[in-house]
Formats: sequence, structure tokens, C-alpha cells
Amino acid sequence: MKHLLSINDFTNRETEKIFTLTKEIKKFPFQQMLKQRSMAMIFEKPSLRTRVTFEIGMVQLGGHAVYLQPSDIKLGRRETAADVARNLDRWADIIMARTFKHKTIEELAKYSSVPVINALSDIEHPCQAMADFFTILEDKGDFDGLNLVFIGDGNNVCNSLMLLSGLLGTDFVLACPQGYEPKTEIIVKTKELMKKNGGSFKIINDIKEAAASADFLYTDVWVSMGQEQESEQRKQKFKSYQINSELLAMAKPTVKVLHCLPAHRGEEITSEVMDGPQSIVFDQAENRLHTQKAIILHLLEKDHLIKVREESC
Ligand code: CP
Ligand code: NVA
Repeated sequence: MKHLLSINDFTNRETEKIFTLTKEIKKFPFQQMLKQRSMAMIFEKPSLRTRVTFEIGMVQLGGHAVYLQPSDIKLGRRETAADVARNLDRWADIIMARTFKHKTIEELAKYSSVPVINALSDIEHPCQAMADFFTILEDKGDFDGLNLVFIGDGNNVCNSLMLLSGLLGTDFVLACPQGYEPKTEIIVKTKELMKKNGGSFKIINDIKEAAASADFLYTDVWVSMGQEQESEQRKQKFKSYQINSELLAMAKPTVKVLHCLPAHRGEEITSEVMDGPQSIVFDQAENRLHTQKAIILHLLEKDHLIKVREESC
């Protein structure tokens, strides 16, 4: 039984398979491969994209999803994560969880007899990274010579992008203020993957230098959910780490801009850039739907059914 808690749970062959499956699903979105199957969706934090794409994705596959808002379960307070998992797996075929602590998702997975998907924790956001690299693949056509530059916080989104970059053997540059680098173990794992698969990893402080080399420029909020008490301090530290027209002018003319959203316009990205012709942020948001459907089918070992559809067409 497979879970998706971290990008580390996938091999590069699996990610390639998921991207191929995603292309198919995008062409033929309405298939009934998960008829009468259910997903339980646990949320400790707010969400627009993750909730809507998982829920609509399950419906498009013939199943349905049950949304459990933070006040429904009170994970770890009303009941332990272990007990929640041992209830939900009796009813649902798959569990998706967005939690504060990554440990909570690990605990759910440890006790669940059905696959668990990490829909964002303090450490990773693997579904986001899968959708982002699929968006890059659609835009660029392949991953050859790709240099992805992340401007901002070495956070959950950055961690999953770094690890996926390592798995796919592409170049990754992080430009962040000192003290906001990713955790050492994520850096070590990324470098280990790159040693095996190719690619390179670099952390620098100068955003202009970073932007000049980018094929794709990525940013995320300076203050992630759960860090609200650090808000003022972070806004000070990150104030020059903004993707704006001036920075874009220093990059290759073909550079594209990515953001996982929600965006704080005027902070990490200006409206001019986000709404400009080089922005592909809403393609990323759309692709959350398609890639997650492929991930669900892969984890439930239903991906072979895609071939049945092709044959019957
Ligand atoms: N990018 C993302 O996960 O968005 P939500 O927080 O709205 O789900
Ligand atoms: N880093 C952000 C991503 C939101 C999708 C957060 O954790 O709030």
C-alpha cells in the first residue's frame, strides 16, 4: 500500500508515469474509474485550490469526497490522529490531509489501511510540486536543461520542488535571505538525488543573479499558514525578495513566472507580473486538478483502467 507523504515516496519512473497519465486525464477528464469510491479530506488549515481540485477530481472519476473542516475533527484534541485514521479507513478508500505538523500526516499514514495523501504540511506540499512540474513540462516540452529559480522562503513548497527537481535531475536555485534556508535534511536529500539523477542545487542571497539564469521563476508567500506570529519580522526580512517588472527585465525574455497561490499581491509578487503575459500561475492552479486525479489513480492502483477506456473508445 502506497502513501504520498513526501516527494521521496515516488521514484522518477513513477513521476514520469503520473505525468503521462495526467496528459491522458486532461484530454479525457470524465471517466468512471472510481465509481462508488470515497475520499476523506481532513483540513487543519484553510484552502481554495486543494479542496476544490480534490473534490471535483473525485467526482469526475465517478467517486465522491467528504470535506472535514478543522472544527469537525479537532485532530489530536478530540481524538488522536491514529484513531481518526482507524475510523476513516473503515469508510473511505483514500484519505487526504492538510495539517500543521508533518508528523500528524505520518501518524495518519502509520495507522491507516488506505493510502494517505499529504495535501500540505509544514514540511512539504508534494501535490503542488507535481502540478508545477507538469505545468513546466507542458510549457517547455521536456525537462532538458531546465533551471528553476525559487525566490523567497525555503518553505514547504520550496522543499517539495527541490526534491522533485532532484528526482528529475534538473537545476534548482533558491534565492532567500540568510536564516530562511530549507532544513538541512531536505538539502542533503536533494543533493543526494542530484548526484544520482543529474541536476544541481544552489542557494544564493542575490535575487538578480538568481533571476538572470532562470527558465522559470517561482515564488510563494513570505508568511506561510501557521507562521502568522512571525508576520512583521518576515515582511521586513523578505521585502526585497519580490518578483516585479524590474526583476523580470533582468531575466531571459522567455522566462515564465510561477506561484502556488494564494498570492499576496504587492509582497512576493506584483500584480503587473502576476497578471502579465509571462505568468502561468493559473495554468498551475488548473493542473492541480489533473495531476491529483493521476496521483489518486496511481495510489489506488487504478491507473491501468485508463487503457481500458482507450480500447473501448
Ligand atoms: N496552492 C494551494 O495549495 O492552494 P490552497 O491553499 O488554496 O489549497
Ligand atoms: N507556503 C504556503 C503555501 C500555501 C499553498 C503555506 O504553507 O501557507
